[in-house]
Amino acid sequence: MNTVKVSFVINGKKREVEIRPNISLLELLRDHLNLTGTKRGCEVGECGACTILLNGRPVNSCLVLAPQINGKTIETIEGLGTESSLHPLQKAFVDKGAVQCGFCTPGMLMSLKALYDGRAAVNRDDIKEAISGNLCRCTGYQQIEEAVESVFTKGSNEP
Ligand code: FES
Ligand code: FES
Repeated sequence: MNTVKVSFVINGKKREVEIRPNISLLELLRDHLNLTGTKRGCEVGECGACTILLNGRPVNSCLVLAPQINGKTIETIEGLGTESSLHPLQKAFVDKGAVQCGFCTPGMLMSLKALYDGRAAVNRDDIKEAISGNLCRCTGYQQIEEAVESVFTKGSNEP
């Protein structure tokens, strides 16, 4: 099969890859770029485990064809924080026990990063809406919502 060149910025770095045109963004991330923090769940757009930010907006990477990201900006969980310098959302998840098995966590955090970047204040309904496409099999929603609320209460998302 023919290949196509795709150029994009991922976690702040320019990349160019040559790939088959029919692979998904999820496949590109995990299988070609070794960014396995983005999880492969249902692969039909229902679980949110594969959520990343495309030009700042959360999308299910399993539903995006990789060539569609040409010229665009991608953020994945690998760009969110580091072990020694956690993003405030990551720190709140740890502090409030919002991670159980952790399979949904990268996708949840990317959905919430879009909320965090766009808003100075949120209520519980905003948080619920932001993660409405992210399924948690461990039913940890209450701790997750409390964790996010604590970030906004502290005002640590304000410039
Ligand atoms: S793996 Fe993409 S939504 Fe489930
Ligand atoms: S923490 Fe296990 S799926 Fe959410």
